Amino acid sequence: MKIALDAMGGDFGPPNLVAGAVLALREYRRIGKLFLVGDSAKIQAELKKHRCNDSRIEIVHASQVVEMSDRAVEAVRRKKDSSVSRAVDLVKYGQADAIVSAGHTGAAVAASAIKLRNLPGIDRPGIAAILPTETNVFVLIDAGANVDARPDHLLQYAIMGSVYSRHVLGYAKPSVGLISLGEEDVKGTELTKEVFKLLKRTSLNFRGNIEGRHLFENPVEVVVCDGFVGNVILKTSESIAVAIFTWLKHELKKNAKRAVGAALAKDAFRTIHRKTNYEEYGGSPSLGVNGICIIAHGASLFNTRSTRILSRRFSVIMKRQPRSSPRSARNQRTVSIIGTGSYTPEKVLTNEDLSRIVDTSDEWITTRTGIKERRIAAKDETTSDMAARAALKAIEQAKVSPEEIDLILVATATPDMIFPATACFVQKKIGAKNAACLDVSAACAGFLFGVEIAQQFITSGTYDTALVIGADKLTSITNWSDRNTCVLFGDGAGAVVLGHRGSAHGVISTNMGSDGDFTDILFMPGGGSKTPITPENAHLNLQTIHMSGKEVYKQAVIAMLAAARKAIDQAGLTVDDIACVIPHQANLRIIEAIGERLGIPREKVFVNVDRYGNTSAASVAIALDEANRSGRIKAGDYVLMVVFGGGLTWASTIVEW
Ligand SMILES: CC(C)(COP(=O)(O)OP(=O)(O)OC[C@H]1O[C@@H](n2cnc3c(N)ncnc32)[C@H](O)[C@@H]1OP(=O)(O)O)[C@@H](O)C(=O)NCCC(=O)NCCS
Repeated sequence: MKIALDAMGGDFGPPNLVAGAVLALREYRRIGKLFLVGDSAKIQAELKKHRCNDSRIEIVHASQVVEMSDRAVEAVRRKKDSSVSRAVDLVKYGQADAIVSAGHTGAAVAASAIKLRNLPGIDRPGIAAILPTETNVFVLIDAGANVDARPDHLLQYAIMGSVYSRHVLGYAKPSVGLISLGEEDVKGTELTKEVFKLLKRTSLNFRGNIEGRHLFENPVEVVVCDGFVGNVILKTSESIAVAIFTWLKHELKKNAKRAVGAALAKDAFRTIHRKTNYEEYGGSPSLGVNGICIIAHGASLFNTRSTRILSRRFSVIMKRQPRSSPRSARNQRTVSIIGTGSYTPEKVLTNEDLSRIVDTSDEWITTRTGIKERRIAAKDETTSDMAARAALKAIEQAKVSPEEIDLILVATATPDMIFPATACFVQKKIGAKNAACLDVSAACAGFLFGVEIAQQFITSGTYDTALVIGADKLTSITNWSDRNTCVLFGDGAGAVVLGHRGSAHGVISTNMGSDGDFTDILFMPGGGSKTPITPENAHLNLQTIHMSGKEVYKQAVIAMLAAARKAIDQAGLTVDDIACVIPHQANLRIIEAIGERLGIPREKVFVNVDRYGNTSAASVAIALDEANRSGRIKAGDYVLMVVFGGGLTWASTIVEW
C-alpha cells in the first residue's frame, strides 16, 4: 500500500502528522511507501527528531499550504503547489494508492473531486463518518463535504452509505434514515421532503425520517443528511462527549466517596471514553471520488490505535481487504473474537516421570516431538469442568454475561458422556441458560471447525454471540502401556467468545476439510456402536488411542500446509502479511516443517507443545489465549491458525486481531 500524506494540514501541523507517520510505519509493514508531502525542511526536521530513516518514506516538497481561511475550490485552483494538491496528484498519476489529509476538509474533497473525478453516477462526494452507539456504529453521510446539497446528492449518499455499511461495516441489509425534524414525511425542509420521496422509491432499506434524539439510541445503520447538518451533528456530538467527560471528572473529584466510586467504575469510563473519542475512529473516507481520500480529524493527535484503524480502513477501501471464504462471502456480518480463555490442570507429568512408566526417555521424546511435559487432569475432573473454566475466562474478557450467549459449541473427542453433549454440561456450569448447545466431533481439528460453524451463525444474523470451546481429557483414553502414543498427549481446554462488532474485522478466512479414507490411522476403535465395550473385550484396550505415527505425521504436514495456503489465499494476503501462526501443537517437528515450507520465520510461529503436549481440540485454543494474553498478538495483526486431526480432518482460520 502506498500512501500520500498531506503533512502540513491539521491543527497540530507537521510535528503531529510526522509523528503519526512514523508510528504507522512501525506498526504496518503493509505500507510499502509513504509520501510525506509538504515543506521538506520542516518534514526532515521532524523525522530527525524521531530518528526515523525508514526507506519507505519519500518526501515530496510542496511550497504552499491551504489555510483554513481559504475557499476550498479557489485554493485548489490557485495554490497549485499546495501540499494537499500535490498529495492528490500522487494518487492521480498512480504513484500512491490513497491520500490522507487532516487539513482543510473542503480543499481535500475539492482537490480529489477535481483531480481524480467522481465515480460514474456520483455528482458530489460525501464524507462517511462513523459514529458509535451503545453496541455498534453507524455511518453519517455527508459529514461535511457538500453543504449546499440537492435531493439527488442525498439519494447518492444513501446509496454510497449503504454500500459502505454493507462491505466495510458488515451490516447485511443496512437500514437508512433521513435526518429531519419529525418522523412524519410531511415534516422537514423542502430538501428533506423531496429526498424522502426519492428514497421511498429505491430498493434501499429506507426506514423514513429520524430525529436527532434517536441517533444514538435506536439508530439506523446509515444516516443521510446534507453536509451542513452532518457537520453540525458530528461536531456537536464530539463536543458533547468531551464536555460530559470534563464535567464528570470535575464532579468525581469533589469528594473521596465519589473518587472511590470513580476508581471502581474506571473500566466503564474507559470503554465509553474510547467509544466516544473521535481519535479512535482514525479518519473518514470521502465516498464517491474515483480514488481513496481519507479525511482525518483536524484535531486528531495520532496515536497507536488511530493509525491502526486508519490503515485498516485503507485496506478495506482498496479492496485489498481480506476476502471472505466462498462460504462466508454470501453472508455479510463480520465476526470478531471478543474474548479468549484457557485452562490447564495443575498436575504436571514430565518426560522423566513417563520414563518410569514405559520404556522411553526424555531424550527420545524431546528430539522426536519437542514435548518436555504435559498436564494431567485429576481423576474426577471432567472435560466439561476444564471447558467451563476456560469459558468463564473468555466470557470475562469479552465482557458479556453468560445469559447473552446464544450458542455453545464444544469441540472434543473425550466428551463427559456419549450423550448428552458436553456443551450442555458446560451450559449448566457457566449459567448460559439461553444458549443452544452441541458438541463438534472433529478430533484435534474440532476447535476451528467450531469457529467456522459459529461464524456462519453470526454472519447470517441467526445468533449474535457464540462460545466455542476446544476441550479434551485425552489422558482418559490413553493407553499408558503404549509408548508410541502415551508420551504425546495432555489435558486442557481453551475457549473463545465470538460476536458481531460492527467495524471490527475479526475472522476473515475459514476452511475446513475431511478425508474419510484415513479413518484407520488415528482412531479409538471401542466404545462406540461398532464395537461396544463388553466384559469380553474390556482387556483389549479398545477404548484408547490407536495411531500409525508415521502416516499421521505425513498426512498432517500435507493437510496443514494446504489448509494454511488456502486460508492465506482466500484472505487476499501474502505469507509476509501474517504476523503470527498458531499451528496445532502436536509435534515440534511438524510445526517446524510447516513454518519452513510456508516460508514463515520461526519467531512468528507460536509454540507451547513443550509445556502441554498435544491437547487435541484444546491445543490451538489454549495457544491462542496464551498468545493473546501475553501480548504476542496485537490489534491489527493477521493471525493464522491451522489444525489437523483424526478423521482425517483439517481446518484453517485467519483472524484480523
Ligand atoms: C509418533 C512420532 C513422534 C514417532 O516419531 P518417528 O520419528 O516417526 O518414530 P518411529 O515411528 O520411526 O519410531 C522409531 C522407533 O522409536 C520407538 N519409539 C516409539 N515411541 C517411543 C518412545 N516414546 N520412546 C522411545 N522409543 C519409542 C519405536 O518403537 C521405533 O522403534 P523400532 O524402530 O525399534 O520399531 C511421530 O511419528 C509423530 O509425531 N507422528 C504424528 C503423531 C501425531 O501428531 N498425532 C496426533 C495428530 S492430531
